[in-house]
Amino acid sequence: MIADLTLAIAHHVLVFGLAVMMATELARLRPGLAGSDVARLARLDAGYGGTAGLIIVIGVLRVIYGVKGYAYYLHNPWFWGKMATFAVIGLLSIPPTIAFLRWRKAQALEAGFAPPDSEIARIRRFLVYQMALLVLVVALAATMARLG
Ligand code: HEM
Repeated sequence: MIADLTLAIAHHVLVFGLAVMMATELARLRPGLAGSDVARLARLDAGYGGTAGLIIVIGVLRVIYGVKGYAYYLHNPWFWGKMATFAVIGLLSIPPTIAFLRWRKAQALEAGFAPPDSEIARIRRFLVYQMALLVLVVALAATMARLG
């Protein structure tokens, strides 16, 4: 019971952390990004990736050591819907990560480099889609916990 509670607390804190990082990335990703903003975005994005990794680790531990037992989840379509949606979020997070790394490299090679506004707008869309899907993940999480 204590393990289940501890894992549930960690899971919720990490999920809230992920949502805050996503929103902060979106808020910082504005046309006219200055030099140091790109480095800050890349660092934030690395934190976002690390947090997502921890969510997977804690999530798997919840499946294995949670009070309901792993069989509850393995036969639960809502659980698999949640996993699939989370995987799509992971895929949608790849283009922004590549862009931030590319921009940092361009800054190192060319003094005064600034990402074009059109590209910033394109990358913002990936973050907006991720945030929309995160809402769906939360809805699927609540459903999977109740309809097994
Ligand atoms: C961003 C991704 C994720 C979000 C937003 C999320 C969100 C949530 C939320 C809000 C709950 C509480 C549901 C409730 O009790 O009403 C929950 C429970 C849970 N999550 Fe996640 N989760 C995520 C990723 C994962 C992953 C990757 C796994 C497994 C690999 C996982 C496994 C679980 C388990 C086992 C529970 C317990 C459900 C129960 O009480 O039966 N989660 N999640």
